[in-house]
Formats: sequence, C-alpha cells, structure tokens
Amino acid sequence: MADKNDTMEKLVSLSKRRGFVFQSSEIYGGFAAVYDYGPLGTELANNIKTAWWKEMVHEREEIVGLDASIFMSPKVWEASGHVSGFSDPLTECRNCHTRSRVDHLLEEIDVFADEKMSDDEINALLDENKGKVKCPKCGSSDFTPSKSFNLLVKSNLGNFTGDANEDPVYLRGETCQGIYVNYKNVLDSMHVKIPFGIAQIGKAFRNEVTARQFIFRTREFEQMEMQYFVHPDDAIDQYKVWKERRMSYYKKLGINMDKLRWHEHENLVFYAKAAFDIEYEYPFGWKELEGVHARGDYDLTQHCKHSGQKLEYIDQVKGEKYTPHIVETSVGVGRTMLMVMADAYTEERVGDDIRVVMKFAKQLAPFKIAVLPLSKKDELVGPAREIFNSLTPKWHVDFDITQSIGKRYRRQDEIGTPYCVTVDFDTLEDGAVTVRDRDTMEQERIKIEELVKYFESKLN
Ligand code: GAP
Repeated sequence: MADKNDTMEKLVSLSKRRGFVFQSSEIYGGFAAVYDYGPLGTELANNIKTAWWKEMVHEREEIVGLDASIFMSPKVWEASGHVSGFSDPLTECRNCHTRSRVDHLLEEIDVFADEKMSDDEINALLDENKGKVKCPKCGSSDFTPSKSFNLLVKSNLGNFTGDANEDPVYLRGETCQGIYVNYKNVLDSMHVKIPFGIAQIGKAFRNEVTARQFIFRTREFEQMEMQYFVHPDDAIDQYKVWKERRMSYYKKLGINMDKLRWHEHENLVFYAKAAFDIEYEYPFGWKELEGVHARGDYDLTQHCKHSGQKLEYIDQVKGEKYTPHIVETSVGVGRTMLMVMADAYTEERVGDDIRVVMKFAKQLAPFKIAVLPLSKKDELVGPAREIFNSLTPKWHVDFDITQSIGKRYRRQDEIGTPYCVTVDFDTLEDGAVTVRDRDTMEQERIKIEELVKYFESKLN
C-alpha cells in the first residue's frame, strides 16, 4: 500500500502513464518547472475550473467574470510594487552551485522565514543556522549570502530595438492586477453595487528559484482569483464570510477535510488587514493551497496614484464616496489538481492484486462513463456505439475495446471513471447492460432504454 513517501512518485508515474501530466518539451530532455497537461489532465483541469467558476460566478449574483490579457502596461507592475519588491531570497551552494530559496532551506530545519524579510534579516538567520542548513542536492552547508531575486518574467513584446532589457514588458505575475485595472470598466459597464466581486481564471508566470514538487510550484501556472470590493467598515466581516465559504467549497468538492487547515501569516505585508492560507497535507507535507487575504485599499490606491484615474466608489443612496477595500481569494489550478489527485489516489487489495483507483468526485472525473463491449465483434460493438452516442450529449464518455475486460476495468479505475457500462452477449437477448460502480465494484443490470435516466440520477 502507498505510504506518504512514495505516493508522489506513484502520482508522477500514473500522471504520465495515463495522460494526466507530461514534462514540457520532454523529447528535448524537458524544460525545468514547466509541465503540459495531457488529454486526461486537460479534462481534470477544465472540470476544476468549471467547478470554481460555477461556485464563484454563476452561483453568485454579485460576482462577474473577466478575462484580462497576460500582457499589460509595465506601469501596472510598477504601481503594484512587483518591479521593486516581488522577490525571493536566493542563495547558491558553493559546492554544487544549486540555487535555493533561503526561506525554504530554513523551513526544512523548522526555522521560520519568509520572502517578505529583508536581505539583512534573512542573512542573519542564515548565519545563526550555519552548519544546520543543508543543500538539498549535495548536502553541503557552504552557501553564498542571500540576495533578493525578482520573480517577474520579462519579454520583448513590442520592443524592436534588439535590446531585450530595454523597457521590458512583463508576463503577468498574478492575475488579480488585470482585475484592479478593470475595476472602473466593470463598475461603469455592469452597474454593480458594493459589495461585488470580479473573478478571473488565467495564466501567470514567475521566475521561481526552486521549482520542485511536480505541478505544485511551476514557472508557468494558472490562477483562479476573485477580488471582492467592499465598504472599508465591512472588510473584516466580509473577510470572515469568505474564509468560511472557501473552506466549505473544498468539502463540497469531496476533499478529505482532515487534510485541510488554516495557516495564519506570521508576517503580514504592511497594507494587509488579515491573511490566512488554506493548507493541504500534500504527500510532501502541509503546504499552501489557497490564499484568502484582506488587502485593504492598497491596490486601488496604488493604481489611482500611478494612473491619475479616480478609482473610487460613489454610493448615491448614502451620499458617500470612498476607495473600496478588497478581500481576495486566490488559488492555483495546478495546486488544486495535485491536491485532487493526491486525495483521490487509493490502493486496495483485491484478492492477490492491488487495485489502484482514483476516487475523484464525480463532477471532477475526466470521464464519467466508459462503454466497454465485451468483444470486438460487430454484433457487440454496434449496440455499444449506439449506447455511447446516446450518452455523449450529456457526459464525457470513453469507448474502449482494447484488451480483456478485467484490464479495461483496471484502466478505468486508474483514471477515475465512476461507471463502466459493459455490453455482453446477454445484451442481445435482454436489451440490458452491466453497470459497474468504480468505488464499490458492484455491478447491476440496467435496461438500455433506462440508462440515461439512471446516470442522470447518479451523475447530475
Ligand atoms: N494575487 C495574490 C497571489 O498571487 P500568491 O500567494 O502569490 O498570491 C496565490 O499566489 C496562489 O497561486 C497560491 O496559493 C497558489 O495556489 C498559486 N501559486 C502561486 N505561485 C505558484 C506557482 N509558482 N506554481 C503554482 N501555483 C502557484
């Protein structure tokens, strides 16, 4: 059975073998900290994004969606503080030249540090713990002094000078800046009233120094962020409400709640009013899944100062004018996917065999149903295709005629398909099929004409 230490290895291997996640540019030896989602990973990620969008936009009258560009004026990143302050403390091992984040090295020996500390503060900690801090690659304790390393990724978009460093344009380091700079557009076009939110799903890019742990920390990733604009007096109450909502969302997603907890930021950034992360117990330990932060009026105030535009809210009824405060919820698609996969991964003993089954919540499973004709003969494949065609308008369905039925069940278990429909020779006589449940492995006979209704009751 899987223990914590080898679960990660098993997940990485299953991800590749079954088409969830591939290393980027693998035929060229890979590309560090960038991953591609395969056919099933794409389905899983899309289902994760759809669940989030439904929860955050479709089920909430006061939240609207947005899809801002990855590229924005570089002035956005100056105003937000990213150009001057979006950095991690970097050190290099003098023995093997591996670069590491100093806060992560200190974390390994249970010394608290974070990326918000100054170079002096973090170097003092590094000195105090000399000899104890080890290089993750070679084990040496000989490091260069810590230096802040800016995480923004630069591009030469629109720059035809030949000098890529001249007037760089940045790939966005977080999606929420696209929300802040569109605050006024949304206010004017949608006539939303405070409190209201703007939600967005999109790519972000960071020059992460250490990018290990598979899709947990990557240099290109997707964020699902929602910024909730509130009256300053209501900020803390709204913050508490959003904390509750976000944690109960994971319960709805079917995540094991014993593996989720709140972690309060020890070191708040100067503008923040409150900051907690939701942590999940990944196979490599408790790590941040999502941030829920009360950001005060910092973001709109900064963009107001730098752009010269008024980014206030006028409450006509109360005759009040103010800069709204923001409550943010922010989570990565990849981190959610890794949590969902780790949570679903199950090994069960069946006779002399170990059955690997991904017990995904049904709404997240890449395929909901697999149709499996018992033999490749036309007399079974024909009716099986008709069943497949009757189900696909409603659900994502796999059609599999390769290998023995036992091997096909095992494959569907490994990719987390909740139901298998087997068409056998009895089907030709009784017009019924065998439906197998992924989790219980129980089988029942269902009439073909009742299948859609049956799955509606199980899957919707
Ligand atoms: N707008 C706030 C913000 O971006 P963050 O804590 O830097 O805050 C929010 O990121 C979330 O985005 C994280 O909780 C995590 O889920 C995801 N995330 C951040 N950096 C990531 C990376 N390098 N790879 C994958 N996901 C990442």
